[in-house]
Amino acid sequence: MQTFRSDLIEGLSASPKSLSPKWFYDAEGSRLFEQITRLEEYYPTRQETALLRQTIPFWLDLIGPEAVLVELGSGASEKTRILLDAIAGLAAYVPLDISETALQAAASALRADYPHLDIRPVPGDFETLPDLPDDLPSGRRIGFFPGSTIGNLDRDAAIKLLAASRRMLGRNSLFILGVDLIKDRETLEAAYDDAQGVTSAFNMNLLHRANRELGTDFDTNSFRHRAIWNEAEARIEMHLESLRDQTIKLDGHRFRFRAGETLHTENSRKFDRERVVALAEAGGWSLVEMRVSTSPYVALALLRPKE
Ligand code: AVJ
Repeated sequence: MQTFRSDLIEGLSASPKSLSPKWFYDAEGSRLFEQITRLEEYYPTRQETALLRQTIPFWLDLIGPEAVLVELGSGASEKTRILLDAIAGLAAYVPLDISETALQAAASALRADYPHLDIRPVPGDFETLPDLPDDLPSGRRIGFFPGSTIGNLDRDAAIKLLAASRRMLGRNSLFILGVDLIKDRETLEAAYDDAQGVTSAFNMNLLHRANRELGTDFDTNSFRHRAIWNEAEARIEMHLESLRDQTIKLDGHRFRFRAGETLHTENSRKFDRERVVALAEAGGWSLVEMRVSTSPYVALALLRPKE
């Protein structure tokens, strides 16, 4: 199994140096991410929430009665409430999350507010999807993967996830996918490098976390947060840039950073209609409809299994 320690050692040994964004989300990182979602510059959460409210009513006929909503990487299940409120005849809700604590907390909060809904939390990684419980109600399975989280995955991993979802959800399913759209550099870079420095703190927390949990000796004053729009790859990249030549010690290893060298900590891929269609098709789905928010643009794609 990959741990923070083994992943960091592997990432610091690689060239260029990189680390998976999944390590952002310890308690402090999750708190900082919550704060990011409320920033003026960080439009995706706000825009997707409004777009969900507006869009779901148009999709109710396709969703049909007694549907089973399956959310991938549900976290606090905040956006879920919009769907639970809008889909009157929903038979069950299956939140799937890697964090057992987040899952149980979200499930009990939802049970209090939706006492008649059958809520079936399933612990699991959305990259290696578990099977659904076999005693679920028989209505249409609706996959839900909001928040542009798919943008963190490279093309192969995203296709794998979509194909695994297609298998897990079955022939008659639908899939609601939230993506962020390609737009001007200024808007994108501001969303990942806000004036208050919350995103910088979120990125830098990786170094603090490593110092706390692994006993590394990162001098956090000699790194800085960078957010760069890579237009050729259609992705925002986050990096931690070393401000001087330095060596980091971890267990028996020593890792050298040159001044200006970076640790690449996140890709957040952005899409357009063509890219959504191509990705969906490669994962075994066809696009039914794509709905776009007001500016700054994000989108919700409704997918159905390819014939
Ligand atoms: C949670 C992966 C969707 O990529 O926009 C926010 C994470 N990183 N600010 C994103 C994030 C920096 C976020 N996702």
